[in-house]
Amino acid sequence: MLYSKKVMDHFTNPRNVGTIEDADGIGEVGNAKCGDIMKIYLKIEDNIITDAKFNTFGCGSAIASSSMATELIKGKPIPEALQLTNKAVAEALDGLPAHKIHCSVLAEEAIKEAIKDYYNKNNITYNHTIFPDGTSCGHCL
Ligand code: FES
Repeated sequence: MLYSKKVMDHFTNPRNVGTIEDADGIGEVGNAKCGDIMKIYLKIEDNIITDAKFNTFGCGSAIASSSMATELIKGKPIPEALQLTNKAVAEALDGLPAHKIHCSVLAEEAIKEAIKDYYNKNNITYNHTIFPDGTSCGHCL
């Protein structure tokens, strides 16, 4: 079988779909090749991710990855969420086919973007090298 049971489960019954009205951080990323888009909303209190929701306009693997990724970061401190790799998301789904690994990359990137958005909105200094696009927070030159 091409997809694991977990992928099928998270695709047909995705967790945390939707938006958070008063989100503390929002991250939107797209894959230029396939055109899929993923948007992640985070609620953050005392450095802990208390809620996470997503909207994904994309393939089944991208939806399953967003569902799993939001489940993995809920209740976690920000530094832990920042360490979530696409590999960990794919492993938690019991694997993705090789040509679908890039779909899980969207989830990792969207979470990082949402945390960066939270840092920027709250004027929190951060080490810009932890984010893939390497953009500066404005505090570090
Ligand atoms: Fe585009 Fe999966 S094919 S994210």
